[in-house]
Amino acid sequence: MTATVAAPERRRVYRLIPAEHGHRLTRQEDAVPRPAGREVLVRIRAASLNYRDLMVRRGQLGEVRDGLIPLSDGAGEVVAVGSEVTQWRAGDRVAPLFYPLWTAGKYREAYGPSALGGGNSDGVLADVIAVPEASLVRVPDTLDFAEAATLPCAALTAWQALVVRGGVAAGDTVLVQGTGGVALFGLQIATALGARVIVLSSSDDKRERASRLGAFATVNYRTTPDWDIEVRKLTDGLGVSHLLELGGPGTFDRSLRAIRAGGHIAQIGVFTGFGPQSNLMRLQLINASIDGINVGSGEQFAAMNSFIAGRGLKPVIDRSFAFDEAEAAYAHLASGQHFGKVVIRF
Ligand SMILES: NC(=O)c1ccc[n+]([C@@H]2O[C@H](COP(=O)([O-])OP(=O)(O)OC[C@H]3O[C@@H](n4cnc5c(N)ncnc54)[C@H](OP(=O)(O)O)[C@@H]3O)[C@@H](O)[C@H]2O)c1
Repeated sequence: MTATVAAPERRRVYRLIPAEHGHRLTRQEDAVPRPAGREVLVRIRAASLNYRDLMVRRGQLGEVRDGLIPLSDGAGEVVAVGSEVTQWRAGDRVAPLFYPLWTAGKYREAYGPSALGGGNSDGVLADVIAVPEASLVRVPDTLDFAEAATLPCAALTAWQALVVRGGVAAGDTVLVQGTGGVALFGLQIATALGARVIVLSSSDDKRERASRLGAFATVNYRTTPDWDIEVRKLTDGLGVSHLLELGGPGTFDRSLRAIRAGGHIAQIGVFTGFGPQSNLMRLQLINASIDGINVGSGEQFAAMNSFIAGRGLKPVIDRSFAFDEAEAAYAHLASGQHFGKVVIRF
């Protein structure tokens, strides 16, 4: 038996259909799924895009099921619950986990295929979705749905890297690469903890905006390609204590030179390709470490949400698009013009 509270009958949904190059986005309408025993129906109010969503569409992250609903990140409200659901009721403000199976503890490889909006697992670009009750977290009351929709991947990745694995503390120095989603959450979280954050950006206008958000210093990595030297100068010749490595092969060697003795590199991104091939000898010589970072668990997400609410942090939304403008939202992210997050409001 299923308890249903004013759930709609039909929904708008986008699906990925194979095309000549990657996948095209098609808009459809279909019946709203019924929640099974332990499932919850969530009316998605906003979704946000990540660099990963571009890679999924281009087919860079492996096979995508024909008709997959894209996007991992959304927030909304519970509209109906299955008969065995105990944790949620209609009206609760929630966000689904990027890895629905990774609720707590350490990451396991078996969680990988469950990632929303990739491979075979439907994502959030639909008015209403059905998800297991254990795969939801409550979103902060301090955020509206558009702001909350930016948290599941970008914010949680920065949180795991800096707080859970890195243990960032007051007085530390942090480097973030670029001014996209992960980088700006890194800037905001580390600054709130009393660290001094250096931001790399290819745009002087975005550097200015990063300074207004609290960056201790900024470096233009286009006009200063030896940015590692500049970063050392900015840290009394020592290098930074934490670094969010977002570039991959094209940035890793410089990251190794920009990290200080005993420092912590969080390996996260793939902007310049997959798999850095750097010589890791320097890491050994300076007793530094690299952690591979893969988003985060539900437990980590909940802790981050308390922090965000407690510190009054507001995600930086560059631009919002309407549901009908999903294609334009993808194009805006792909242009690299954004500062922070690109959002779709339903
Ligand atoms: N491991 C994980 O769990 C995980 C989770 C989330 C994201 N990621 C990865 O982390 C990266 C960031 O994702 P995102 O969604 O935050 O991206 P995003 O919002 O699309 O960020 C785009 C911005 O990054 C900057 N950028 C691009 N190439 C760069 C380079 N070579 N060096 C320095 N900055 C560069 C640019 O900033 P400026 O315009 O200021 O130059 C660009 O506007 C991606 O590679 C993504 O795949 C990994």
